[in-house]
Amino acid sequence: MLKGPRDEFTPYPWLESFIMQVNLLCIGDVVGKPGRFVLSQVLPDLIRKYDLDCVICNAENAAGGSGLTGQLYKKFLHYGVNLITLGDHAYRKLDIIPVIEQSDHIVRPANFPPTSPGKTFAIYQTNIGPKVAVVSLLGRLYMRPTSDCPYRAIDNVLHQIPDEVKIIVVDIHAEATSEKIAMGWYLDGRASVVFGTHTHVSTADECILPQGTAYITDVGMTGPYDSVLGRKKDRVIRTLTTNIPSPFEVANDDPRLCGILVQVESTTGNATHIERIRVDVDNTDKIEPT
Ligand SMILES: [Fe+2]
Ligand SMILES: [Fe+2]
Repeated sequence: MLKGPRDEFTPYPWLESFIMQVNLLCIGDVVGKPGRFVLSQVLPDLIRKYDLDCVICNAENAAGGSGLTGQLYKKFLHYGVNLITLGDHAYRKLDIIPVIEQSDHIVRPANFPPTSPGKTFAIYQTNIGPKVAVVSLLGRLYMRPTSDCPYRAIDNVLHQIPDEVKIIVVDIHAEATSEKIAMGWYLDGRASVVFGTHTHVSTADECILPQGTAYITDVGMTGPYDSVLGRKKDRVIRTLTTNIPSPFEVANDDPRLCGILVQVESTTGNATHIERIRVDVDNTDKIEPT
C-alpha cells in the first residue's frame, strides 16, 4: 500500500512544499470492450484508494482490440486516465490522428519516423504540483512497423523535456523481454519509471534499479483473461492447428485490470516504491460482445 509524507506527521511542514511523494498508476494494454469496462468500473476507486496523482494508460488495443478512436479517448480521460501511450497499433483507427496531433494527453511512439503525426512526449500537471512527463517507445525485435532506434529517440526526447519536470515515465512497447530490460538499464537514473507493454502478460520482475528507476518488463493486459492475450481462444487455436486464417475477435470473460503502482520523489524523480496490482471484476453481464 502506497503511503507518502502527505499521510504522515512531519516535524518540518515547510519541507512538504519542496519534497513530495507522487503516486502514479501505470496500466497495461486495455483490450476492447472488456478492458474498457473494467477500467471504467475500477479506476475511480483506485484513484481514491491509493491517492493517485497521475494515471498513465496504454490504450493501443482499446478499440475492438486494435487502435483507439477519438470517442474512446474522451472516455479514457473521463474514467480518470491522465496520460495515454500507444504502440504498434497507434494509427489503426484513423480518426484518432487529429486527436494525437492536438491533445496534450497522448503520445505516439517517439521512435516513429519524425514525420509521423503526434507528440513524442506529453506533460501532465498534477493537482499537488509536480509535473509528470510520459514517453512511448517501440521495440524493434519481432515488431511491425519497423521504427527508428529507441535509444537515440529517448535521448533526444529527454533533452527536450524541461528541467523542471523531474518525473519521467517511459512505456517500452516491445515483444522481446531482452529489449525491455536493456531499456530499463539504459534509462536507470534518467527516468522515474520504465514499464513494459505489448506482450499482455504481467511479469514478476518489478524492482527499483540502483539509480532510482522503477522497472517492470510487462505490466500485463487490462482486458478479458479467458482468452489468448485478449482474443477468443477457439479462433486462435483453430488458426494455429489448421493454418486457416480467421479474424481473432476480442474475448469477453474474466476481465481484469493489471498495472503497477509507483511512488516517486518529486524533487529527484527517483522512485521509492513499486508494486504490481491486479483487480478482477466478477460482473461480466454488462459487457456486450466487441
Ligand atoms: Fe502492441
Ligand atoms: Fe497490446
